Amino acid sequence: MTWRHLYLEALGRLSDRHAARWFVEEASGGSWPAVLDEPVPTRGEKAFCSMVARREAGEPVQYVLGHWAFRRLDLMVDRRVLIPRPETEVVVEVALGELARLSVPPLVADLGTGSGAIALSIVTECAGAEVWATDLSEDALAVASANLAGLGARAAGRARLVHGSWWHALPEGLKGALDLAVSNPPYVAESELASLPSEISRWEPLQALIAGPSGLEALRAITAEALGWLAPSSALVAEIAPHQDRAAVELAYSAGFAEAFVKPDLTGRPRVLVARRRT
Ligand SMILES: C[S@@+](CC[C@H](N)C(=O)[O-])C[C@H]1O[C@@H](n2cnc3c(N)ncnc32)[C@H](O)[C@@H]1O
Repeated sequence: MTWRHLYLEALGRLSDRHAARWFVEEASGGSWPAVLDEPVPTRGEKAFCSMVARREAGEPVQYVLGHWAFRRLDLMVDRRVLIPRPETEVVVEVALGELARLSVPPLVADLGTGSGAIALSIVTECAGAEVWATDLSEDALAVASANLAGLGARAAGRARLVHGSWWHALPEGLKGALDLAVSNPPYVAESELASLPSEISRWEPLQALIAGPSGLEALRAITAEALGWLAPSSALVAEIAPHQDRAAVELAYSAGFAEAFVKPDLTGRPRVLVARRRT
C-alpha cells in the first residue's frame, strides 16, 4: 500500500484535502507529492489512521498535528493552549511597529502568553528585546517552555516565563520599566460561549477564551494597572473582538493613557488596541 492510497481514503472521510495532505506529510516525514508513491510502513499507517480518526471526531487539525505555524515560528500546540490565530500575527506586527519607535533594545511583557506565540515572535523578530511572558495556566506555561526551548539558546536567553495573574506575575522591579506590554487576553463573554463553533468551545481551553460576563473583564484588569508598569513613551497593544473597539478605547483613556486607537486585522475588522503613554 502507498501513501496515495491512504491519502485518497482520508480525503473521502474528511472532505478536507489540506488536512489529508498535512497528515500524510506528518506521518510519513516525506516531501509532497513524491511521498505519495512510497510504501507505507506499519508505524506510519498507525500514526496516520489515528490522526484521521481524531480529526473525524472533531478535534482541530492543529492539535492533531501537534504544531502550527505562527509568523516565523513552528509552535508546538495541544489542548493546553489556544491555537495561535492569523489576527494575532497582526497584533505582533503592530507591537513590533511600536517597538520600532524606541532606540534601545526594549523590555517587553506578554500577558497571557499561551503557546508563547507573541512573546517568542518578538524575541525572534526584535533584535535584543527582552520579553517576560506570563500566564495563569501552568499547563500553558509548560507548552510555552517547550516552544522556548526550540528557539535556540541565544534567543531563548532573552525570554522568561512567569506564572501568575496578569501584572502580578511580574517582579516588582519591572514597575515603570516596560517599553511595551502586549496581550491577547480572553475576550469572549460567557453568554457568547454557546454561539462559538463547537470546534473552539469543545476543544480549546475555556480559560483562554472566556473573560467573564461582559467579555471585557481581562482587558479591564490589564489596562487598569498598566501605567504602573509602563515606562514613559511606552505602549500597550492588545487583541480585542471587533465589537469591543469603542469600549477598549474608553478603557484605555479611563486608565490614563494619553492616546488610544484600534487598528484593523488583515480582513479590515478592528482588532488591535494601541494605547500610548505620555512621555
Ligand atoms: C486568548 S489566549 C492567548 C494565548 C496566546 N497569547 C496567543 O495569542 O495565542 C489567553 C491566555 O491568557 C491566559 N489567561 C487567562 N486568564 C489569565 C490571567 N488572569 N492572568 C494571566 N493569564 C491569563 C490563558 O491561560 C491563555 O493562555
